[in-house]
Amino acid sequence: MIRLDFSNILTEEIGHNGLSLIEIENEAKKSISLLSKKPYKELDFINLPFQDTSQIKELAKKARDYEYFIVLGIGGSALGPRVLLEALSPFNNLRKKNRVFIYDNVDPATFKYIIEIIDLKKTLINVISKSGSTAETLASFLLFWRMIRDRKLDVRQHFIFTTDSEKGNLKMIADEYEIPSLEIPKNVVGRYSVLTPVGLLLSEVIGIKSEELLEGAKEISERAYRENLNENPMAYLASCLYLMDKLKNRKVLVFLPYSDRLKTMSEWFCQLWAESLGKEGKGTTPYPSLGTTDQHSQLQLWMEGPEDKVILFVSIDNHGFQEEIPQEFHDIEGLRYLGGHTLEELINTEQLATEMALRMNKKPNMKIIIPKIDSFIIGQLFQFLQITTAMAGLLYGVNPFNQPGVELGKRLTYGAMGKRGFETEGEEVKNYLKR
Ligand code: PA5
Repeated sequence: MIRLDFSNILTEEIGHNGLSLIEIENEAKKSISLLSKKPYKELDFINLPFQDTSQIKELAKKARDYEYFIVLGIGGSALGPRVLLEALSPFNNLRKKNRVFIYDNVDPATFKYIIEIIDLKKTLINVISKSGSTAETLASFLLFWRMIRDRKLDVRQHFIFTTDSEKGNLKMIADEYEIPSLEIPKNVVGRYSVLTPVGLLLSEVIGIKSEELLEGAKEISERAYRENLNENPMAYLASCLYLMDKLKNRKVLVFLPYSDRLKTMSEWFCQLWAESLGKEGKGTTPYPSLGTTDQHSQLQLWMEGPEDKVILFVSIDNHGFQEEIPQEFHDIEGLRYLGGHTLEELINTEQLATEMALRMNKKPNMKIIIPKIDSFIIGQLFQFLQITTAMAGLLYGVNPFNQPGVELGKRLTYGAMGKRGFETEGEEVKNYLKR
């Protein structure tokens, strides 16, 4: 089970930079009561662990026959799958089968490299878009669609769509061309969708049992509404982060896992936090990091820079591998002391030392502790962070499930690219370029 240690945020530990337990608990209770009123239908993501995965498993069985599996999607439709791939199947592409490419950024060079590597005949393409209207995803889809058709391959054998159950361009195409499809539940939005077919199909393809992910997430979902704070660490975390902003003006949240396998989790969490909370002038800025790497590039700033940050560590009790550092060079103290320890001891000691150093400098920091990295725990971590973010949104009084701020840029892109109905935006882009 995931644990949360927030002692280094308390006044007893870090003086005036800290918070009192009473303040934290009052706000935590408030977050549970706000959540219990279920003010948004999008809170349905909390029930995802109870879904039936038989259709996903069936399609995954077919997908495993292909050598290459390509995901086309962006934002919430790409980052979750990428976390699963990197956390649970690192170096996946050194395998002979089921090599995975996640193409999100419409970077023409990345596209070229991917098509140079894959063999289309042995490729299955999973197009993921909740709305079915995201320009980047649809452009990539069109490229692959054309290539599949040019080679006279059957589109039904080479595409799987993951999209809204009722509407959108992909839904229309799926119905017309009988493309196998998986549904993203109506009330689940992109960045909260990793535990839907968005992430679960890829998991099954790379050999991760979706039921293990969901089993982990279920333990967390069952605690979401619990009023006993000792059983609801999400409420504590949401409260601490919210109060650090409101009462201590700490506007930057550094997410700092100590494992390469969680590097993408850092990016995923930053999207979740930023897009869910950054509205109406509210929210804090998430900052993706990685330990120990960033001790050698960012720690100086965290220790002595502006008093605007909270550090959120993710520490891993057991990394699963005990590689002992060799005992060599007995006369050179700079190497001698390392010998006989394990790499796990070193990475975990680095984490502990950084946490202590921050505390000694009165810098607020917290720690999520996970026993190990496996599908059960990754499922827990996803749900833990998603529920925490939703609770924080409720404390801020913003809707954590919309993203009105990204619409304008999308409309201007549509206008500039000549989409009908966006002529005014097209003119605005032209005028901007002329100025
Ligand atoms: O969280 C969100 O809603 C967004 O990040 C979306 O996931 C992203 O914009 C992609 O949207 P879609 O899945 O509709 O293509």
